Amino acid sequence: MLEPKGIVTIDGPSGAGKSTISRGLAAKLHFTYLDTGAMYRAVGLALERQGIDLADTDSLAKCLAAIELTLTPNGDDDVRVLLNGEDVSQAIRTPEMGLVASRVSANPLVREKLTALQRQLGAKGAIVAEGRDMGTVVFPKAFRKFFLNASAEERARRRQKQLAEKGQTVDYQEILDQISKRDYDDSRRALAPLKPAADAIIVDSSSMGPETVIACMLASIAKSAR
Ligand code: DC
Repeated sequence: MLEPKGIVTIDGPSGAGKSTISRGLAAKLHFTYLDTGAMYRAVGLALERQGIDLADTDSLAKCLAAIELTLTPNGDDDVRVLLNGEDVSQAIRTPEMGLVASRVSANPLVREKLTALQRQLGAKGAIVAEGRDMGTVVFPKAFRKFFLNASAEERARRRQKQLAEKGQTVDYQEILDQISKRDYDDSRRALAPLKPAADAIIVDSSSMGPETVIACMLASIAKSAR
């Protein structure tokens, strides 16, 4: 149905269900799932560990040049992220690292590095790319673009449940505040802000389960591939 070089993009705010849906859609299409948020998180972790001041462009450029990221599938459930060979998959999945990732993602050098890497990973096609700027900046010619949204309250509830399943107890209000702050920062930054591409299909997942969302997306892909 989809040409092999096909790229499907799924952008949207944090906690809208992008990861579950992108993974599920990729599995149905036999495509590779590209989690670009994980890449920003891993770079955020590296910069934080080395205490890099984002205003110090020389140190930042040096540190970025030395970062090697590898993403590999980790069962059905997750993506394994290697930062210079070290498995940081768990370390990057905390709410704090989400905020760090959001902060470093506004930096032009960081975006330049990761945009190039993402395009390289997508060059062979057959990927479902998930992030904030997949349809607007990284893959503007993607075959099909979706923008997945849900109310901030629903997203906070889902995130809290997700973290609880991983044994992390976090207060609902704290998660809601972090989500709202990230939405605000991600959509107001000058570079590649979070917004739907002009040709994206907007999907509100507030009252739809992941299976229903994936089925809607598959139907939309099948329709436009005919
Ligand atoms: O999807 P996530 O929560 O793992 O993303 C973490 C942060 O990374 C997010 O707040 C903004 C940034 N990000 C980005 O700027 N561009 C992307 N394509 C993906 C993530």
